[in-house]
Amino acid sequence: MGIVIGTPNTAGAVRLVLLGSGELGREVALEAKRLGCEVLAVDRYAGAPAMQVADRDAVIDMTDPQALRALLEAERARPCAHLLVVPEIEAIATTELERLEAEGMRVIPTARAARLTMDREGIRRLAAEELGVATSPYRFCDSLQETQAAVAALGVPCVVKPVMSSSGKGQSLVEAQDGAQAAWDYAQAGGRTGAGRVIVEGFVAFDYEITLLTVRHAGGTSFCAPIGHVQVDGDYRESWQPQPMSEAARAAAVALATTITDALGGTGIFGVELFVRGDEVLFSEVSPRPHDTGMVTMATQTLSEFALHARAILGLPVPAGEIPLNTPGASAVVLAAETGDAPRYEGLEAALGVGPDAQVRIFGKPDARPGRRMGVALATGSGPDQARERARRIAGAVRVVTG
Ligand SMILES: Nc1ncnc2c1ncn2[C@@H]1O[C@H](COP(=O)(O)OP(=O)(O)O)[C@@H](O)[C@H]1O
Ligand SMILES: [Mg+2]
Repeated sequence: MGIVIGTPNTAGAVRLVLLGSGELGREVALEAKRLGCEVLAVDRYAGAPAMQVADRDAVIDMTDPQALRALLEAERARPCAHLLVVPEIEAIATTELERLEAEGMRVIPTARAARLTMDREGIRRLAAEELGVATSPYRFCDSLQETQAAVAALGVPCVVKPVMSSSGKGQSLVEAQDGAQAAWDYAQAGGRTGAGRVIVEGFVAFDYEITLLTVRHAGGTSFCAPIGHVQVDGDYRESWQPQPMSEAARAAAVALATTITDALGGTGIFGVELFVRGDEVLFSEVSPRPHDTGMVTMATQTLSEFALHARAILGLPVPAGEIPLNTPGASAVVLAAETGDAPRYEGLEAALGVGPDAQVRIFGKPDARPGRRMGVALATGSGPDQARERARRIAGAVRVVTG
């Protein structure tokens, strides 16, 4: 028999503990709530997006192993039928999660997947050295001298990134040999854990990059139509679906995503990031959870990446093979321009007036800072280009105001 979902806040409840309560976590929480689950939303600050829609919330430092263990042990002691720990961000004490998993706690997709992907070194070595998957050439470095040597060996242009960072933080493009110093300094300031190791990657002059959303579920592995996206300073600005691909590139992408996600295991959705050059596909990185560029699926698929994630982790049916795409679509981010508390959102009449399919999601974050993602515009179109143009217009009409 499959999973039985009891009433939230009773002994029959299926409880999700969301580690990370941002905009992606909020959508996972909503989908879990739609299926009758109980949701505890956790983050390091109060009033985070998922907390606004969850049954309960908790504010802890998720990188602190003791704090994480105390929270999860308390949840294990509260009556419920199933307890699922669902990481939604990378910055978590994943070694402690592995211990808790060894003690019988269920972590999505697995604690090992969370550990390997929070650190660029873990996933890169698994992909390139154990699985033999094609990637950019790379070196790991612990000092400026090693970084200079790596830049000389790999040649310019190349990319320097802290091994623990996301959304482009601390990442820079080195265009000349003498750029290694600035890149090293920038990485030291931008990494999640402060100073530390960097990866130097040869620059891949790709034709386009995609996220291939890959769902591991009780019935096998399924794929969403490829999502194209544009990144600025390592952070996503626009995504669209489907990204046109050659048959050969599409087949290579599916094979590569299968290899990577099989190696990580567990159930749930993965965002497999790939660089495509002609028919050649290189692996870049993977999120063992919904992907920010996948927000476009809220406009294009009956089952968004968040609905697919919820179904997969609960052991519920997911369409086999290729997840149906209802329409081409696009997303464009709404960013804050300034710092301030309690931001307000103006221009919604114009934004939603762009067309009958225009949508805006406002994340309700308690404060703004320059470049922070505060919302997303969603649009459909006859093809990805038209959808992109509409999404950009919608996002451009929204103003984030503080003060
Ligand atoms: N080796 C590379 N060659 C070309 N572009 C790259 C390379 N590495 C990263 N990028 C660009 O920077 C973006 C962010 O890099 P990524 O490794 O995905 O970092 P993050 O973990 O912050 O998302 C990529 O989506 C891509 O556009
Ligand atoms: Mg990325």
